[in-house]
Amino acid sequence: MKINDDFGKLPADYVFAELAEKVKRARKLSEKRIIDLGIGDVKLPLPKIFADEMEKAAKETGKKETFRGYPPQSGYDFLKNGIVGEYARDGAEISEDEIFVTDGAKSELGNVAELFGKGIKVLFPVPCYPAAAESNVILGNDVVYLPTDRENDFIPVPPYGKTFDLIYLCSPSNPTGGAFSYLQLKSWIDYAISSNAVIIYDGAYSRFVESGGVRTIYAVKGAKNCAIEIRSFSKSLGFTGIRCGFTVVPKELGDLNSLYKRRIGARFNGVSYISQRGAAAYFTPEGRKAAEKRINFYKTNASVLKIALKKQNLWYNNSCSSPYVFVKSPDGLSSDGFSDLLLDNCGICSTPARGFLFDGNYVRLSAFSTREDIFEAAERIADLRL
Ligand code: MLT
Repeated sequence: MKINDDFGKLPADYVFAELAEKVKRARKLSEKRIIDLGIGDVKLPLPKIFADEMEKAAKETGKKETFRGYPPQSGYDFLKNGIVGEYARDGAEISEDEIFVTDGAKSELGNVAELFGKGIKVLFPVPCYPAAAESNVILGNDVVYLPTDRENDFIPVPPYGKTFDLIYLCSPSNPTGGAFSYLQLKSWIDYAISSNAVIIYDGAYSRFVESGGVRTIYAVKGAKNCAIEIRSFSKSLGFTGIRCGFTVVPKELGDLNSLYKRRIGARFNGVSYISQRGAAAYFTPEGRKAAEKRINFYKTNASVLKIALKKQNLWYNNSCSSPYVFVKSPDGLSSDGFSDLLLDNCGICSTPARGFLFDGNYVRLSAFSTREDIFEAAERIADLRL
């Protein structure tokens, strides 16, 4: 038997699995109530409109006339239709046959890499969402990390003179919250086209972008010639446990659109009717309002955390387009050192920058929490003696 040696290149555990164990241990040992601001998992129950729509859909499955089996390979038209409308509102023209409904961004960030040859060269600006890079390591690709810096708000600049087959960009970034401007994205699009690369654009947090900002790479000229966009309903609708998202493979990318369809045929049986009906409720005035309310709730949480960090004179990425706060460790502390200090002294779980494949002294605080826990966490941080 020959196993895949590339697993040996990964850390022993996925960072959020490691954190879950840490929280479990701390909950047993600590006298403080542990507040988990580690993994970015939504905490509020689903808005009623999404839960009601799924309840109706579930009931349909119990009747002969409305029962459904396998969903259409690339998703139900009622959902794809809503997605097309959403793109039009965001300034991009996407057609239904360019959309593939998926079970979310995490799996897709690795799945799309299967369209390309084995051992390709893949660029990841870091800090980055680790699942995307790890999937490429597992596929045996040559993964190259491009460190970004605080002076640029961690927004990467194209490495002119070097070439890659795939370039992963995430905006607003997980973990730093930095959102690309039109011109910043245009520079990556021009670079990708001139070096024959494909951009894999992770837009999992795109609904968190402030109005007036760029919510899709396809709003930028030239993007359909070089970019695949991956989106998810997890963070915007609270669907981390429901699972639904979509991937856009433009027809301008030639064979990639049909190959993607072929890949799904071989590898995926689609997303449940119930999940897709729930997601489609977003494309109604009531659904949009409910989702926006949740997004603003989490962004307000992030602002509350920032007040406490300011009091401590700690640097943080002041993005208004993100549910994450990326914080510089106090002088002399590593990312793990600060994360441990927050857990031991404040009972707060955070994610060290190491988890985002970044060699810098930062931690990420997730604002996906209840207001009560965020206020409690902010007070504990403000009272910390550094
Ligand atoms: C995070 O960044 O916290 C992720 O969304 C968790 C994950 O899906 O791995």
